[in-house]
Amino acid sequence: MSTPSQPIRTLLAAGPEVVAIPGPSVMPARVLNAMHRPMPDIYAGELTEVIDDVFDALPAIAGTSSRAFVPIGNGHAGWEMALSNTLSRGDLVLVLDCGRFAAIWGEMAEFNGLRVETITAPFGHAVDPAVVEERLAADRGHEVSAVLTVHVDTASSVRNDIPAIREAIDAAGHPALFMVDCIASMGCERFEMDEWGVDVTIAASQKGLMTPPGLAMVWAGPKALAAHEHADLRTRYWDWTYRTEDGPYYLRFCGTPPVSHLFGLREALRMIDEEGLDERWRRHERLAGAVRAAVDAWSAEGAIGFTAVMSEQRSHAVTSIRTGSIDAEALSLRCREQFGVTLGLGIGDAATSSFRIGHMGHVNAPMVLGVVGVIESALLELDAPLGASGVAAASAALAHG
Ligand SMILES: Cc1ncc(COP(=O)(O)O)c(C=O)c1O
Repeated sequence: MSTPSQPIRTLLAAGPEVVAIPGPSVMPARVLNAMHRPMPDIYAGELTEVIDDVFDALPAIAGTSSRAFVPIGNGHAGWEMALSNTLSRGDLVLVLDCGRFAAIWGEMAEFNGLRVETITAPFGHAVDPAVVEERLAADRGHEVSAVLTVHVDTASSVRNDIPAIREAIDAAGHPALFMVDCIASMGCERFEMDEWGVDVTIAASQKGLMTPPGLAMVWAGPKALAAHEHADLRTRYWDWTYRTEDGPYYLRFCGTPPVSHLFGLREALRMIDEEGLDERWRRHERLAGAVRAAVDAWSAEGAIGFTAVMSEQRSHAVTSIRTGSIDAEALSLRCREQFGVTLGLGIGDAATSSFRIGHMGHVNAPMVLGVVGVIESALLELDAPLGASGVAAASAALAHG
């Protein structure tokens, strides 16, 4: 067994690199080809149709009749747009964290002048709705202006029960806005903004929506639009009102539209429509099931295991895997240099003790089986104590799942 201290790209890694990080995800050729075009007139003609198509299609993927706003930017841009359009300096927000990303959103809120209180779930667990209900019921003066959480946390791969958190807010009789980050889950996992009573939903282009990084989406429900009227964190670039004014230049993008991304996103939304949302959610569930079967098989010896403790809380878009005594960095280096597969490492302190597989967006069975097979080869090379073959388990899950 050799130690991969140096990058040692071997003959097995030749050919296309397989990137299995949890976003940016694999971009379909259809999307990339749609983007590959000269710049059109931005004031009239085809681009205006593309923009209309995109805005017409966006409500359906979030399960809402509310319109979306599309800032040019990444997921952080979506977070900032949501906060600045609905809240005022000094407002208190309750952040529900189950990994890492809601906490970072909270850090942004604090930086922007909000007061932040965080409920942190034990690592590997979803937020407990009963804890949320208890906290909000104690807030008799309704000081909390908004509850912020993620649908799926990409660090822990834990999925929160959004309808249950909504029920908790209602059970406490609390009027706070409910804002949900669906950056990892949109287009991969069932999400019903209106039915689930979510006031603001945030997504970004680069994960389940199969479009290169650079666009965020923020869906604003009626309660959020009402809050917008008196929010004092509003600034010109993010402002929802300003983005609904007439005129081709300012309308919607506060300046020049992100032309290439819009062509790409329209193609991605067409692909989603052709597949059908239910089918798509089901595909993600089946593929995630194959990955989970592999992890279950590997974990029989106890060295490897899921970061997300409860099986029903495991995301269908990403799986975080604890590696115990095996150095996750060494494992990931081996996967990349020897076998051409790039994995996501754990975030922060978990970098050497966990890795993550993205199975979001444009993924299918051979991609997932290939990634699982490569990980298994690397684990075998590292003499990891494996309970059973993950490849066999994943194949069986796809055959019988
Ligand atoms: C759940 C979640 N929220 C927010 C973000 C931040 O998005 P971005 O890096 O595009 O700003 C990420 C990024 O991975 C994420 O996974």
